[in-house]
Amino acid sequence: MANVEEQGGAKLVTFQINGDEHHLVVEPQETLREILQDRIGLTGVKEMCDRGACGSCTVIMDGRPVLSCMILGIECDGHPIETIEQLNSQEHPLIQAYADNHAMQCGYCTPGFVITAKALLDRNPDPSEEDITTALEGNICRCGTYPAHIWAVQEAAKKLKA
Ligand code: FES
Ligand code: FES
Repeated sequence: MANVEEQGGAKLVTFQINGDEHHLVVEPQETLREILQDRIGLTGVKEMCDRGACGSCTVIMDGRPVLSCMILGIECDGHPIETIEQLNSQEHPLIQAYADNHAMQCGYCTPGFVITAKALLDRNPDPSEEDITTALEGNICRCGTYPAHIWAVQEAAKKLKA
């Protein structure tokens, strides 16, 4: 019987997502975004452009924000990954701060902004307005909610420090 490596290049990959392990046979062309959304059911990861230009599919991998539409699943073996679902289950202060500051309209871009902001606060608990703008500059919001993201991230930073 052919092993997984012989089946068109598919590989068995261990995904470490939000503290859980998932063992999946992955095709070489499958992106992390497709695997998270379509196979694991983490629908907080959004697809807008599918070409690395909007930030809506952002997740944290190895502590850094990455665009899951631009990473192949076979590159993720053993790397810890964090998605918006983890922040929600942990009641991270960013979630409430985004709601309190009305930092969303349709909400489609919001998970990408929030997870990018989480990576920023993990490495810089006291970001300036410029730090926040720079960290979020790869995220696009078609509804134009940009000013509110700065207020939300600053408020979450204050709550995390308190
Ligand atoms: S969907 Fe990945 S960057 Fe736009
Ligand atoms: S809130 Fe609609 S795209 Fe950002």
